[in-house]
Amino acid sequence: MSLRLAVLASGQGSNLAALLAACADGRIDGEVVGVFSDKPDCGAVARARAAGIPTWAMKSNSVATREAFDAAMFDAVTAVQPDLIVCAGYLRIIGPAAIERFPHCMINLHPSLLPRHPGLHTHQRVLEAGDAEHGASVHVVVPELDAGPLLARARVPVLADDSAEALAARVRQREHPLLVATVAAIASGELRLGLDAIHWQGKVLTAPLQLGADDRLGLPAQPTQENP
Ligand code: GRF
Repeated sequence: MSLRLAVLASGQGSNLAALLAACADGRIDGEVVGVFSDKPDCGAVARARAAGIPTWAMKSNSVATREAFDAAMFDAVTAVQPDLIVCAGYLRIIGPAAIERFPHCMINLHPSLLPRHPGLHTHQRVLEAGDAEHGASVHVVVPELDAGPLLARARVPVLADDSAEALAARVRQREHPLLVATVAAIASGELRLGLDAIHWQGKVLTAPLQLGADDRLGLPAQPTQENP
């Protein structure tokens, strides 16, 4: 059964474009059935419209409270009957009441190797901390910010003369295959987001999957400091 994807986005939409391409060429057994945004003029909304995908977008300051915005947006999300909600560069914090409407049906792409550097400005913070590596993570959305169960990560090196912009560009190159591979694995059933546990190939996942150089997900080959 083809996975019905609702995509939430606030930015240029390069991750949305990667998902659309993968659905179109069969790498993901799924279909983007709606794109939802807090930025009506953003690139992601324009890309969705150009692709003929139903969009819902409203400026967040057009309603009085976060709860009212979330309620309106997630009513629209519910209406497209998604199997999975993908936050792909969605930059607004989602309140707990909305998240609890979709237990373990919502995933987020975050530009750091979580649990390091939750929140904003991750590239700059990596440089300030002197980290040797950086990357991107996909996790299940829970009410605590960037703290849900980790599904998969992609690592990139931090180079001696890196700027935050150079680092951001390197991370973004790996975000696209990471998000595509994670959504593909959920669509195929290889990765299952149970309420009690995450399963990978039928076994409980105890450490985040890692994106290989071949753009495929696998268990981390060697224990790391974060995943002993
Ligand atoms: C990505 O780098 C994502 O990690 C961050 O926002 C960016 C969105 O990029 N949260 P795009 O809109 O998918 O091009």
